[in-house]
Amino acid sequence: MKKDRILLVDDEEDMLENCARLLRAMGYSPITAPNGEEALRIIGEESPALALSDLKMPGMGGIEFLHQVKKRHPDLAVIIFTAFGSIESAVEAIREGAFDYLPKPFTSDQLKHSIDRALKTIDLARENRALKKQLSDNFCFDNIIGRSQGIKNVIETIKKIAGTHSNVLILGESGTGKELIAHSIHANSRRLGRPFVPLDCAALPETLIESELFGHEKGSFTGAHISREGIFETANTGTLFLDEIAELGMDLQSKLLRVLQERKIRKVGGRKEIDLDIRIISATNRDLRKCIEEKKFREELYFRLNVISITLPPLRERAEDIPLLCDSILKKYAGSHSLPVLAVSREAMDRLKAYPWPGNIRELQNCLERAASFAGGNGIGVEDLPENISGGSGAPAAARPLEFDELNYHEAKKRYLDVFDKGYMENLLKKSEGNITRASEISGIPRMTIYRIMKKIGFKREIL
Ligand SMILES: Nc1ncnc2c1ncn2[C@@H]1O[C@H](COP(=O)(O)OP(=O)(O)OP(=O)(O)O)[C@@H](O)[C@H]1O
Ligand SMILES: [Mg+2]
Repeated sequence: MKKDRILLVDDEEDMLENCARLLRAMGYSPITAPNGEEALRIIGEESPALALSDLKMPGMGGIEFLHQVKKRHPDLAVIIFTAFGSIESAVEAIREGAFDYLPKPFTSDQLKHSIDRALKTIDLARENRALKKQLSDNFCFDNIIGRSQGIKNVIETIKKIAGTHSNVLILGESGTGKELIAHSIHANSRRLGRPFVPLDCAALPETLIESELFGHEKGSFTGAHISREGIFETANTGTLFLDEIAELGMDLQSKLLRVLQERKIRKVGGRKEIDLDIRIISATNRDLRKCIEEKKFREELYFRLNVISITLPPLRERAEDIPLLCDSILKKYAGSHSLPVLAVSREAMDRLKAYPWPGNIRELQNCLERAASFAGGNGIGVEDLPENISGGSGAPAAARPLEFDELNYHEAKKRYLDVFDKGYMENLLKKSEGNITRASEISGIPRMTIYRIMKKIGFKREIL
């Protein structure tokens, strides 16, 4: 949109000229059109800030022009000139979406007033849109890949709860993205810019000294040469992410519970109490209810931590996200290895989608990185996948059990070898791109033998 450009539409040439002169005197660059059709064409090309149009014109009248503008350029404000005293047409114009009407004849001041008001409103609307966009952009989920309903639900929940102070418990199998989601909640909350402190509860010794959690004052015990901040103080005003919460020992569970109840800590050897404002996000792949039943987890702590719970779907329940995840993982791999991005063959993708992924996204990452290094520049095919995922068909066929019905030994052996030869040759010719000399080098068998095997298993030279 060009801010100083104002479109004038009128079939009366004098009116156009006079009005254009007034507008130029006000510092605008008017463009004129003798009718509605021409005006619509100009709007498409010149993107004016505002249009002023007469009501009565031969051909497309002012109301129809307004109608078309609202349909094609809903953001363009239109001021309609009406005949003096024609209140009905003014009402009709406003009802059709005109910003304002100006009864003819009008003074330069009236014109200026109406234009100023329209431009100010347009500016406000734009500002409003920008603010709204900024607000919605505050939610950023770029790093959470997936369009499945399961992932959409997770994102919706984060949007709803990120701004609250409630503690969140994230549940999900290993590798489903619990840490990623914890980060995302923090990053989309008002605590962004404040500390995000992860603490791996599985790595904490039961004997963890209180000073690590609460800090200590200088001289509070032998060896305390300087005063030290504990984990709670480090995380204060931000988010503390307690990963693998089910692994927290009973003693530490009690200490944590006390802190959550009192929302205060005191450093070891210190007198001053420190007020805490921490959001706790915890995560586990265990069934905490079962841990409570087994008396390995304190129920009260569970209720404190589980104000809001988010359960992450395992990858096998959102197989439709696998292509997107592959794309993202392979792009990252290519970026860090300065290589072109590898494509995944359709067949390989089918296998990836069918596999149950017990290790979820982390397993998919490992699998693709390994496959990418095998693929060596070509796309990723079934043969580049580990056998448990490829179903074995990409691996040498002989490695797979065959069903021989009731064949005698020699028949069965022949079939077995044929299947082996077929699988081996397919791979070999793919790797050598059909170049028999290269295939001979890779396989270590003479070119004539390769031709003979190809003939036996029905591969034709010319289709290579
Ligand atoms: N939806 C997703 N989009 C993109 N990457 C993801 C997604 N979910 C997980 N990841 C990636 O998968 C890997 C494993 O995720 P993360 O470490 O968050 O899982 P976790 O549930 O904490 O696993 P564990 O239980 O083993 O600790 C990370 O590299 C993470 O970035
Ligand atoms: Mg984790």
